[in-house]
Amino acid sequence: MDTGLEHIVAAETVLSDVDGEKGRLVIRGWPVETLSASLAFEDVAHLLWSGFFEDLPDARELGARLGPAREQAFATMIEPESALDTVGALRFGWATLDDQETLETAIQVAASGPVFTAAAIRRAAGLDPVAPDPGLSTSADFLWMISGKMPTPDAVRALDAYLATVCDHGLNASTFAARVVASTRAGLTSAAIAGLSALKGPLHGGAPGPVLDMLDDIGVPENAERWIDDALARGERLMGFGHRVYRARDPRADALKAAINRLPDTAGRLDFAEHIESEVLHRLAKKYPQRALETNVEFYTALLLEALNIPRHAFTAVFACARVLGWIAHACEQIEEGRLVRPKSVYRGPMPEAA
Ligand code: ACO
Repeated sequence: MDTGLEHIVAAETVLSDVDGEKGRLVIRGWPVETLSASLAFEDVAHLLWSGFFEDLPDARELGARLGPAREQAFATMIEPESALDTVGALRFGWATLDDQETLETAIQVAASGPVFTAAAIRRAAGLDPVAPDPGLSTSADFLWMISGKMPTPDAVRALDAYLATVCDHGLNASTFAARVVASTRAGLTSAAIAGLSALKGPLHGGAPGPVLDMLDDIGVPENAERWIDDALARGERLMGFGHRVYRARDPRADALKAAINRLPDTAGRLDFAEHIESEVLHRLAKKYPQRALETNVEFYTALLLEALNIPRHAFTAVFACARVLGWIAHACEQIEEGRLVRPKSVYRGPMPEAA
């Protein structure tokens, strides 16, 4: 038995390879650092979906279809009746979409993520949603719908870098959840909702908001040592550190750090964060000398999204807007594989005669 399934190989994939020993991530042949520095959301969608839809157009045409799909999502968006958190609002929005195994469904799901997320951010701030501008790129429009202000090219590049960096990552928990649902032939929207539901947990994609809470709580560098020691003494997990697969540094952390460095006015915050990072790493190494616990993607995700003025309650939903490209590709790959995922369990309960 292997309860965390870490020694089980449950899929063959052409999508991404996570080498935890070397700290290397390859996405369809691209090292993540190169992908992060060069591709926009639309290119990443094309890269991940190539080979899975017979009617997939070229990258430019695919990008051109995302804008009108955002418009459609906005025009047909249903306002949730009760107050939902950002992930809840995204899940609610996706649940209203068609649920086929087609390119059309894939486009609707991917294009509507930023629309539902931006609307939820604005509702939480007591503001009306802003309509998308289909002529903008996805990242530019995402920032426009959040703030109602035209973003700078630097900000658009930084968001593209983030979305590209986290678009796919092997058989992580949310991707596995998406593949299990896809294997039942439930549809691509259902697979995306399953992925989102797994992603929201604090041990997976729910960590970056709490990273900022930690930095705020520490406040000044002089408090770091005591704060970290106290948290570890209470048995708490420090958000943004550790990983199931990486035994070396998560390469996405540095890809994101490079993107933050390209943004103006981030040097002071980065210095502080780097100080906390090194204090945490030092203490984790002391507490767990046998276990390489390194910085993971969520630490610098938090700083990058903060620099883009995205509120921390929305970080997980923004993550999902990128990872959904991978969930869809994996769902298609699982459908092609054609096998229902159905592992076994060992029964430890009473037998009728004993009961
Ligand atoms: N802070 C403190 N202690 C930690 C941390 C951490 N961040 N990570 C692991 N540990 C401890 C564990 O509690 C465990 O201690 P124990 O043996 O005394 O119980 C020991 O280190 C070994 O843990 P692992 O086996 O490496 O942990 P696992 O593989 O189960 O968990 C996980 C990986 C969930 C990511 C963990 O490191 C963690 O909780 N990190 C904080 C949350 C986080 O940053 N999540 C985002 C991950 S990236 C992503 O999913 C997008």
